[in-house]
This record gives sequence, structure tokens and C-alpha cells, in this order.
Amino acid sequence: MTNKNIILIGFMGVGKSSIGRMLADKIDYDFVDTDQLIEAKTKSTIKQLFFEKGEDYFRQVEAEVVEEVALNSKSVIATGGGVVLNPSNIVKLRQNGIIIHLNASNETIIKNLVNDKSRPLIYDGNMLERITTLLEERKYCYDCYDAQINVDGLTVEGINDTICDLLKGNGLNEC
Ligand code: S3P
Repeated sequence: MTNKNIILIGFMGVGKSSIGRMLADKIDYDFVDTDQLIEAKTKSTIKQLFFEKGEDYFRQVEAEVVEEVALNSKSVIATGGGVVLNPSNIVKLRQNGIIIHLNASNETIIKNLVNDKSRPLIYDGNMLERITTLLEERKYCYDCYDAQINVDGLTVEGINDTICDLLKGNGLNEC
């Protein structure tokens, strides 16, 4: 798997970006975050994009960005929590990538998100209700993983050690 990308998927609030950044540093890979690329491409924040242009437009730009980063090699790619909603995103990412699902309990996710005002999908209305509904709706959406790690109670360092153990088993010598 030497040139493969490492793709992090998972629900909002599981820590994909902070974990991914540290992992990339540790194994000397490039780090890319699809949400950051969307913001750079549209010169807008994710929140503005949702409110001004709507979710469909956001998903369209997200798919374009995914198509571009899927061509990378040796990159850690942190994705937005909704990337799995479009199966073609996953097909593309998998072509040169190993997909790792960062899984967390509903309690952990709710704790991490409930005071977060930056995420448009949960900011609207009653946040706890929105998070719970989305968690239920997406219960099986992350099952497209090659490997899964439960992050409950683990530090970012601990999660990265676990990912590294897993990657070593897949022949990634950088770990
Ligand atoms: C979304 C997750 C967000 C961001 C957007 C939509 C989702 O990314 O892409 O707000 O549909 O789950 P994070 O998972 O990094 O919060």
C-alpha cells in the first residue's frame, strides 16, 4: 500500500481533521481536508455555502474536490461527514486509498457537537434533536470502510497509534 492515500471518514465531531493532521505529520504524508478545499475553491465558509447556496450546491463542490484529491498519492485525506452520502465519492477515494472509519458512540458525538455553532446541518433549530436524527439517518452510511477504529475515550495520540498499528499490518513502513 506504499503510495496509497489514507482516507478518514466518520460522523461530524469524531475528530477526522485533528487526527488526520497529526497522522500525516507522523508518517510524513501530505494532509488534505476536503472541507478546507471546498472553502478555498468557493472563497466561502461551509456555513455560508449552505445558507447562501444550499446543501445540493455544497455536495456538488464536495464531489468535485473529492474527484481531485482521489488522484493524490501518499496523502492523509480528512473528509466531511457527509462524503459517504454519494457512493461515487467512495468509489473514487477507494481507487488509491484505504478507507478508515473513525467510529464513536452517540454520546461522544453529541458531547463534541452540542456547543458547536460552525456546522450548518446541526446549527438550525434544536441541535440535540438534529444530531440525534442525523445519527439515526446515517447509521449504516459509514459501513463502506476498509478498517474501523472506535475513538471513544482515546486521545488523538492514542488514535494515531492505533491507526499506525493497523497500517503497519497493511505494509505501511512509515509508521
Ligand atoms: C457535513 C460535515 C461537515 C461539513 C458539512 C457537512 C455532513 O464536515 O462537510 O458541514 O454532512 O456531515 P465535518 O464532518 O468535518 O464536520
